[in-house]
Amino acid sequence: MQEKRPSVTVLGLGAMGTALARALVATGYPTTVWNRSPAKAAALADNGAAVANTAAEAVAANRLVIVCLLDHQSVVDVLGTATLSGRVVVNLTNGTPAQGRELAEWTKNRDADFLDGGIMAIPPMIAGPGAFLFYSGSRSAFDTYQPVLESFGESLYVGTDPGLAALYDIALLSGMYGMFMGAAHAFALITSEGVSGQTFAPLLTRWLTAMTGAVASTAEQVDKGDYTLGVSSTIGMQAAAYPNLVSAAEDQGVSPELLMPLQKVLDERVADGYGGDAIGGIIEILRKAGR
Ligand SMILES: NC(=O)c1ccc[n+]([C@@H]2O[C@H](COP(=O)([O-])OP(=O)(O)OC[C@H]3O[C@@H](n4cnc5c(N)ncnc54)[C@H](OP(=O)(O)O)[C@@H]3O)[C@@H](O)[C@H]2O)c1
Repeated sequence: MQEKRPSVTVLGLGAMGTALARALVATGYPTTVWNRSPAKAAALADNGAAVANTAAEAVAANRLVIVCLLDHQSVVDVLGTATLSGRVVVNLTNGTPAQGRELAEWTKNRDADFLDGGIMAIPPMIAGPGAFLFYSGSRSAFDTYQPVLESFGESLYVGTDPGLAALYDIALLSGMYGMFMGAAHAFALITSEGVSGQTFAPLLTRWLTAMTGAVASTAEQVDKGDYTLGVSSTIGMQAAAYPNLVSAAEDQGVSPELLMPLQKVLDERVADGYGGDAIGGIIEILRKAGR
């Protein structure tokens, strides 16, 4: 006999909440949804989801409550209207590690179990092979509901500290925004002479893909605290060439504002006497400045 599937509540039907709820319905989990603007629930109702009139009603319907709202404050505001006792709250709203820890405490004080999550996907990727999600907090909640959470993508449990999922999430997003900044600057520069974006795109992709090898080599250096390991392009060489990036941008009428912060950090690392190290050594400047 087939085991009964747990039923699930989803609070928030923005682009991401809708994708999550759709994945649950498609996988066959009985799903109750709620959204502040009720119209967004109509399509899900047509697909078989139950629609609650209030967040409190939605939370009352099921033990497992998945929350995907705009930000931390909206999560507190919405959950604050419901009785959480006995519930397992899985928060998939973007937030900081501190907010994850705060929500864990807040839900514990309301007699609920808590998992914080970070979604490494955009809505069309949900339930597809590329999607993965971080979870941290209650181990037993994760073990119990992992099969449900797998509806969204690969679920990676990163620890009992409820702040860890957000830390992994924010770290990956920080890497992504570095790429977005670099790509935006590169497109602004190349199109300044009329080269089309589509002509340039394959070259940019090729170069960025080749450079991802630096992630693994930097990992070894940072773990061993030795930024001389395998160095082939010294930070001194890069600090010497970097002003060319800034000047070329200015000459082409492109603001170098996204490039400028790195110049300062490179120069400081060289001034500290590490010009022969690999560029990963700038991690030490970031650590020093953050203390
Ligand atoms: N979209 C992505 O690519 C993506 C990827 C990873 C993670 N995320 C994260 O997923 C979360 C949701 O993103 P999204 O793309 O679904 O955003 P969205 O389309 O802007 O939806 C925001 C949701 O929050 C609700 N909301 C906002 N303020 C509220 C309040 N004060 N009280 C009650 N409900 C409120 C909105 O309700 P209404 O419909 O009534 O406005 C809507 O359901 C965010 O934390 C985002 O960072 C998104």
